[in-house]
Amino acid sequence: MCYIVPLYMCGIFAYTGRNGKDAAKVLLDGLVSLEYRGYDSAGIFTPESGAVKTPGAVLELKKKVPKGFKGKSGIAHLRWATHGEPTEINAHPHSDCEGEVWVAHNGIIENFKELKKKLSAKGHTFVSESDTEVLAHLIEEHLTILRRGSGVAKKDVFERAVLAALNEVRGTYGVAIQYKGEPEKLIAGRMGSPIVLGLGKKEHFIASDPSPILKHTKKVVFLNDGDVAVLTPKSHTIYKLSSELVNREPEELDWNAEEAQKGGYEHFMLKEVMEAPEVIENTLRGRVIAEKGLAKLGGLESVAKELEKIERIIIVACGTAYYAGLVGEYMLEEFAGIPVEVELGSEFRYRSPVLNQRTAVLAISQSGETADTLAAVREGKKKGALTLGIVNAVGSTIARETDAGVYNHAGPEISVVSTKALLSQLTALALLTMFLGRQRKMSAKIGKDIARELRNLPEKLEKILAWRAEVEKLAKKYAGTRDFMFIGRKYNYPIAFEGALKLKECSYVHAEGCGAGELKHGHLAMIFEDFPTVALVTKDSVYEKVFSNIQQVKARKGPVIAVATEGDEEIAKLADDVFYVPKTLEMLSPILNVVPLQLFAYYFARDKGLNVDRPRNLAKSVTVE
Ligand code: M6R
Repeated sequence: MCYIVPLYMCGIFAYTGRNGKDAAKVLLDGLVSLEYRGYDSAGIFTPESGAVKTPGAVLELKKKVPKGFKGKSGIAHLRWATHGEPTEINAHPHSDCEGEVWVAHNGIIENFKELKKKLSAKGHTFVSESDTEVLAHLIEEHLTILRRGSGVAKKDVFERAVLAALNEVRGTYGVAIQYKGEPEKLIAGRMGSPIVLGLGKKEHFIASDPSPILKHTKKVVFLNDGDVAVLTPKSHTIYKLSSELVNREPEELDWNAEEAQKGGYEHFMLKEVMEAPEVIENTLRGRVIAEKGLAKLGGLESVAKELEKIERIIIVACGTAYYAGLVGEYMLEEFAGIPVEVELGSEFRYRSPVLNQRTAVLAISQSGETADTLAAVREGKKKGALTLGIVNAVGSTIARETDAGVYNHAGPEISVVSTKALLSQLTALALLTMFLGRQRKMSAKIGKDIARELRNLPEKLEKILAWRAEVEKLAKKYAGTRDFMFIGRKYNYPIAFEGALKLKECSYVHAEGCGAGELKHGHLAMIFEDFPTVALVTKDSVYEKVFSNIQQVKARKGPVIAVATEGDEEIAKLADDVFYVPKTLEMLSPILNVVPLQLFAYYFARDKGLNVDRPRNLAKSVTVE
């Protein structure tokens, strides 16, 4: 297995107080409410007792922390995927050579390799594979320079060293940093990864979200990108990276811990749908060489030569991931020219599949633990195929058992109902198409077009999400409906099935996916005035065909809700309701079109008072066959 693993989610919690509280207890308790952010390894540091780290989640850490471990301040971390496997050595916080500077980090330091080389040449010794460790050594390096007669007052060297280091790193971070030389002081920084400060009475906190802070104080300050905050038990000062002071008013949060985990949203499902733009950015980060029209997939480098010779790909997956695979089939065949079949994980091994070394079996799985998908991977391996994965959960069984793969970087998906993982799977499939396509006959021009449009997706998704009140109204309008049809063609054929699946699992109404061209072969018989059809009819190569399918539905008095391209006035004359989405490349259109369907399923179920995050009879990860 060879995947390259940056880190985006994770949980950070740091505390400094002068009110007799035991920092270790505060931190360990706080980590519990951050556990939803990551659980592959955990760690804690206090200047008085040092660091304890472990693979596993908070419970493992609690077991490992010795009696008598204490402190008045400290930092703690829960990890979800970072550079390197989930081992004790790669767990956070990371330290410098002398164990003086400790860093808990969420994000990815993109220039860590060049910084590591530079620091190694200066004599720094690295113990982990983590990009975060580089930051600790970089701060140490600046501390050494500043302490060597720079004229900077002793009380200021720590913050000056941190500012200098953060100005040198490229990438994203939310960080909490502590220095043994000034044990009461904590420094926080934010660039692309959320950080909130908690302001209590003689105590201050740093966290990735307010959930661990709220039982201590409701008064918080959310940092902006480029902010660096210096905290002691009695003060907090915020700077810009340029050292300029920032005045940011605290706010009182009227949330409980669960609401805080949900970022103020009512359900994880909505929060996760709203994360779409960020998810696409994270899946793309560092993987697109736009000017050359190339995709750089580090996790596939070890098998790049074999991939050049691959003559067939079999995608195996279940549920939503299966629909992602079906979209991938269209992408890979059209743009990479490789024959693709898509199989349900649960069916693959019953087919006695004929495989050889020129076949790649590609598993798509959010959890990386779905038993049926895993069984398909094992079948592929047994028969000599190259096995690949598009997996979200780092270090999961599918990630470990496949020969190579691409991690999604979508962050943990908590709602049982999969939403953001799908967007990231589709994005990863587009990258894979570029990667394999450019190994074959795809022109640089096509590669560049795809790269450009991939980069535009986050902004277009922002737009769709900003219009979500329109979907909410639609959900209300159709609230009493018991049956829905979803239709689409070509790239949006699988999205019709996904739209139906979302609605079924969230709200338990009858919903059917149907290739729009198949309507007349049977499904049309069901259509009448109380059986609405949701039609994916964006402007693409099959627009006229789907338009005509909608006419067939309207002729049977079936109401139609269209997902259409902005500016399409014709569709508004035909459909009962239209939700517009921005124009994009046809192959990428599912990434935009599926979002209104996810929102529709969400609002429809929420208005029925259902627990959309935990649909009845379903589990997040199906680890039994
Ligand atoms: O973890 P996986 O992606 O392998 O899970 C596959 C399916 O179980 C999953 O997509 C399921 O269909 C979801 N409930 C869909 O929302």
